[in-house]
Amino acid sequence: MAAAISEMLNALQDSCLPERGLLRLYDLTEKQMFLLLDLAAALKQDRQTGRCGRLLSGRNIAVPFEKSSTRTRVATTVAIADEGGRSEYLSANDMHLGKKESVKDTARVLGRLFDGIMFRGFAHRTAELLADHSGVPVWNGLTDEFHPTQALADLLTVRERFGNLQGVKLAYLGDGRNNVANSLMEGCAKAGMRFVNCSPPQLSPRADLVAHAEEIAARTGGQISIVNDPVVAVHDAQAVYTDVWVSMGEESKREERMDMLWPYQVNMETMRRTGRLDDDSVIFLHCLPAFHDHHTELTRDIGALEVTDDVFEAPFSKVFDQAENRMHTIKALIAASLAPR
Ligand code: CP
Ligand code: NVA
Repeated sequence: MAAAISEMLNALQDSCLPERGLLRLYDLTEKQMFLLLDLAAALKQDRQTGRCGRLLSGRNIAVPFEKSSTRTRVATTVAIADEGGRSEYLSANDMHLGKKESVKDTARVLGRLFDGIMFRGFAHRTAELLADHSGVPVWNGLTDEFHPTQALADLLTVRERFGNLQGVKLAYLGDGRNNVANSLMEGCAKAGMRFVNCSPPQLSPRADLVAHAEEIAARTGGQISIVNDPVVAVHDAQAVYTDVWVSMGEESKREERMDMLWPYQVNMETMRRTGRLDDDSVIFLHCLPAFHDHHTELTRDIGALEVTDDVFEAPFSKVFDQAENRMHTIKALIAASLAPR
């Protein structure tokens, strides 16, 4: 193991990482969050030069997912395999969780057999119950409310492009109260960034989450703004971020969301309004999957939804860097909890 990686792991482990794992970004101190980003960057560099370690040798990690996933699932299983560990993926069909068995009982079984759990599900409460009763770290791979491992990858991607996070302006457009928007707000507040959430008033984030983010931002020198006008939101933004208009589990809301969210589509005009296209100082971000062309069932007849194809495919679009960074950040997170000292 490279000395730098070992030092970062020691620093993280000395810092008393939450034993319950990571359910939302508030579980981490700012220092821990930055250490995780540094560790992820170092692990990424090692992998790019063909070096992987044995940080998770002998470790077994359960990956129970109630919802579909491409990135989070493979980011987790590849991260674990890279470091010599073993993962067991359980889809909703493979488990009794919440059907024939309570979450508490499933938690106790998984905790007896596994060293950690990467969970994806609907109710955030399920993740909390798993953490309360399994006795092993639980990492939230997305719930209805939060997507903290996504936000870690997003922050790493922004930092790779701009060299730092302090003061960087990120404008999020679309469904302002979903899991991705909530975790991004927490992450940007902790990183001292200028975060703008721009959505129709009906889709603004919960007041308590905003208040909490504002409290953190006051400490870190960041700024949290909630606005409804996309023109105002993107002015001077260095990163423009969007997500799907209808999250998993909300399919019945499709029609009303489409009516509400067209003005919040990210297109070339949106990117131009940042005032940063000409000097190439703006990036586009999306957690993916994205409806940017005619290639999905939903968009076959109507074309792009939350982002147009020209923006998605532009050189300033960093969406596949984000996707790759899911793996490096998840690897850092799991190693921080489970690597031997
Ligand atoms: N961004 C993300 O979480 O993607 P998946 O749904 O494919 O895991
Ligand atoms: N908000 C989206 C994110 C997908 C990664 C959803 O929950 O479906």
